[in-house]
Amino acid sequence: MNTPRTFQVKSFGCQMNAYDGERMAELLVAEGLEAAPAGEADLVVLNTCHIRERAAEKVYSEIGRLRREDGSSPMIAVAGCVAQAEGAEIPRRAPSVDIVVGPQAYHRLPALVAAAAGGTRAVDTDMPLASKFAALPGRRRQGASAFLTVQEGCDKFCTYCVVPYTRGAEVSRPWAAVMDEARALVDGGAKEITLLGQNVNAWRDPDSRGDGRGLEQLIVALDRLPGLERIRYTTSHPNDMTEGLIRAHAEIRTLMPYLHLPVQSGSDRILKAMNRSHDTQSYLAVIERVRAVRPDIAISGDFIVGFPGETDADFEATLEIVRAVNYAQAYSFKYSPRPGTPAAAMEGQVPASVQDERLQALQALITERSLAFNRASVGRRSSVLLERPGRKPGQKVGKTPWLQSVHVETEAEIGNLIDVDLISAGPNSLGGVVAGAANLTGEAA
Ligand code: 5AD
Ligand code: SF4
Repeated sequence: MNTPRTFQVKSFGCQMNAYDGERMAELLVAEGLEAAPAGEADLVVLNTCHIRERAAEKVYSEIGRLRREDGSSPMIAVAGCVAQAEGAEIPRRAPSVDIVVGPQAYHRLPALVAAAAGGTRAVDTDMPLASKFAALPGRRRQGASAFLTVQEGCDKFCTYCVVPYTRGAEVSRPWAAVMDEARALVDGGAKEITLLGQNVNAWRDPDSRGDGRGLEQLIVALDRLPGLERIRYTTSHPNDMTEGLIRAHAEIRTLMPYLHLPVQSGSDRILKAMNRSHDTQSYLAVIERVRAVRPDIAISGDFIVGFPGETDADFEATLEIVRAVNYAQAYSFKYSPRPGTPAAAMEGQVPASVQDERLQALQALITERSLAFNRASVGRRSSVLLERPGRKPGQKVGKTPWLQSVHVETEAEIGNLIDVDLISAGPNSLGGVVAGAANLTGEAA
């Protein structure tokens, strides 16, 4: 096989995967490869996700689709969590795969590509002690909003979740490395940084002694970076919401009023079976403390319906907690057994038809709440960070501090923060006009 000159990275799943995809692309560019559109690349990296249903099956059909009309294939690398979980099984089942590389080993991608070009199929699912980050090239220019992974892995072992197995133990990146990367992102044009981690609020500076500096100190330091206007972080665990981090929501201007805090279920019995290490009461207490210091904060969450043993009453309790918290936004999933996790072997697996019904009911409630949240914004003026062009000519799409998408017609360029009067609302986005423009039109008429 020839040494590839062009590449495509296709990322699936969570924001951490999107970040890894960006870093792999930067790594390949530093090696002299060029990004190419789908169908034209010499090397295709499938950056996979293992969370959802039939994750591995989907990867195999994705691999099948890469076959060209003449029967040949590009060089194929499978990365991400499916790579970690399936390892050498992947090339056994899909012989057109040349490289398998796990989420902790992708800094070695250039060497694996060279080996594959030389005819050696390479599987690297090591979780080396030394962090991959030091081996990656510096950040390239990013959009207005950039991701920055500060923490990886998880020690919590929720019984449904593969993350502790595919991403490994909880590891925090050192303070200096995070600050350097943040500066590079801001120099490259980022106005907003979202700090990422499977358990981002468990971040602790590994280089400091004793208690260590936590996420709130990091946020305070980032707040002082000239040019950085907005800071977000995700995903947080309820048990790691410290008083300091909660206080930061009151005190730090650039820390956005949005908190993604998954609860997964509203039933204490199910939370116990999930090994969540919190109950509904302690979760609600955290929400109350956050709202006490920042009453306008938008809360979002994740839910799993149809966990083994979930009864109608348990599910009703989930609907109840959605009503009690009044989420601005939430993501919900049908439970899907991940091989090797404790819940996959539990009794009382819930039939698919019941899962479907519950998911529909939950999503209907969440949509109703998101719509109400967005409608309450209509009539207000909000700052909006313009992030991408809209579908209509002259239209741009940006975000409010509460992470609502806003469509607005403006000449202002992507990357600008502008004031927008919010005039209409749907469950997923808002419509707005540049602040003052509504009045101007009114006067002209
Ligand atoms: N089945 C369904 N949903 C899951 N999630 C994680 N593992 C599973 C699973 N096995 C959901 C959780 C988590 C989100 C990222 O994905 O809600 O918070
Ligand atoms: Fe998975 Fe639970 Fe860790 Fe989240 S806290 S990554 S759901 S094990």
